[in-house]
Amino acid sequence: MVSTCIQNICCIGAGYVGGPTMAVIADRCPNIQVNVVDLNESRIKDWNNSDLSKLPIYEPGLDEVVERARGRNLHFSTNVKSAIENADMVFISVNTPTKSKGVGAGKASDLRWVEACAREVAKYSKKHTIVVEKSTLPVRTAEVIKSILSSAQKEDNKHDEPKTFEVLSNPEFLAEGTAIKDLENPDRILIGGENISAVEALAQIYGQWVPNENILRTNLWSSELSKLTANAFLAQRISSINSVSALCEVTGADVNEVAKAIGTDTRIGSKFLKSGPGFGGSCFKKDILNLTYLCRHFGLPEVAEYWENVVKLNDWQQERIARLVVQKLFGTLAGKKISLLGFAFKANTNDTRESPAIMIAKRLLEEGAELAIYDPKVEGYQIKSCLSDTTLNVNNANSNKYTVNNDGRWGSAEDIYSSLKGADAALILTEWEEFKNLNWSEIAPIMRQPAWIFDARAIANQEAIKAAGLNIWRVGDGSE
Ligand code: UDX
Ligand code: ADP
Repeated sequence: MVSTCIQNICCIGAGYVGGPTMAVIADRCPNIQVNVVDLNESRIKDWNNSDLSKLPIYEPGLDEVVERARGRNLHFSTNVKSAIENADMVFISVNTPTKSKGVGAGKASDLRWVEACAREVAKYSKKHTIVVEKSTLPVRTAEVIKSILSSAQKEDNKHDEPKTFEVLSNPEFLAEGTAIKDLENPDRILIGGENISAVEALAQIYGQWVPNENILRTNLWSSELSKLTANAFLAQRISSINSVSALCEVTGADVNEVAKAIGTDTRIGSKFLKSGPGFGGSCFKKDILNLTYLCRHFGLPEVAEYWENVVKLNDWQQERIARLVVQKLFGTLAGKKISLLGFAFKANTNDTRESPAIMIAKRLLEEGAELAIYDPKVEGYQIKSCLSDTTLNVNNANSNKYTVNNDGRWGSAEDIYSSLKGADAALILTEWEEFKNLNWSEIAPIMRQPAWIFDARAIANQEAIKAAGLNIWRVGDGSE
């Protein structure tokens, strides 16, 4: 099959998706020059840092891939114009957060950054360019990109090679924390598009390391919708198992046993059945809300409501955990120190977007708690920016040390032990490896008794906690 052979790629957006994806493409395709560009100068500076531990994104294995390819055929810069001018293929990997105001506020995706990229591509490209949507986008966004590009095409009459465009959808299925593994060994690659030669040009790139049968070709709209619905289905499993966790706690069942029992049914499968404080991350909530917006737009309110409940249940799980902490600590948190172990939305990432820890921390602060927050990869300034949003009456924090808020105080702790010292309770919110084998007999004496351990991820050694004389609550455990 005839397809354009790609020699130069530009990726707009050096974030959690663009950075790792391009690093792996460059690593696997040494003959293709890959230029990753971003408006954010400090982010680009961090990507170019010779100290690989300072890359802007923490992702296991990313440093090695960057080390192999950077400077050879992987380049990070802020020069958007020249990267587009030289590219045969441009990936759009910019942020698409939920709109905060205007039509569709709180549900629809804000496409201003995508639109800006399309305009930049339209302006700077000089030849035939394949534009690939990488960011998660609502269905039919390709239409927006196409219409911006086609107006540029009509105006163009000064280039030797005609300025033409093809738009493809190539949604990302990588999960943070396992991004490199997911990119190197994906379940599938999805490419949606109308023009066969453009689709095959992209398939050829992935074909360098992904078996052809795992590269699915669809039409544009199926590809866009598959991304949203894949995430909705995954999130639905988490809300389902979290609803069961509450039932287990009151009936004497154990959610881990239930998950194992249902997961061994091959029709159900064992993955994504881990009960916890609720799903976070940049995709699930955003994509479901997007899906519900689409459903309402197309006159399907019942379908919208069905999916909205997956998000509602997720909020409820977080609220339920916060309330439970208050209740176990005799109905008041005023003046009590609580150690929050974990702030990232899951282990092995420094990403805190939509992390359940944010809502739970705000609720505890509202109750007057003093929070000592420890996360091995999340910096204090990042926690500060998450908690400074005043939606729950929590005032802006001015330093990483204890900061007075309206109702409570928080600080980021240097290590686990200073977070636990003098604490009335510890609340495990992220499943970091280092929280799994804590020495509870050493910890118990430094906490204020009677002390509680709230294990919202069901990872800590329950027997050791009990043996140390500490009280324990574990998500989905009704055995007590
Ligand atoms: C997700 C999708 O998995 C990925 O395919 C898509 O491209 C982007 O969104 P990500 O958000 O990085 O990836 O992480 P994921 O591993 O899916 O976890 C999402 C949330 O669900 C986390 O907060 C995690 O802790 C939670 N989760 C996951 C559970 O609570 N239980 C589970 O069994 C699995
Ligand atoms: P994701 O998780 O989808 O990768 P991020 O927010 O981590 O999202 O990354 C998106 C990146 O895109 C940010 O670093 C942002 O600065 C960059 N960006 C947004 N709009 C543009 C633009 N028009 N040109 C270049 N970079 C952009």
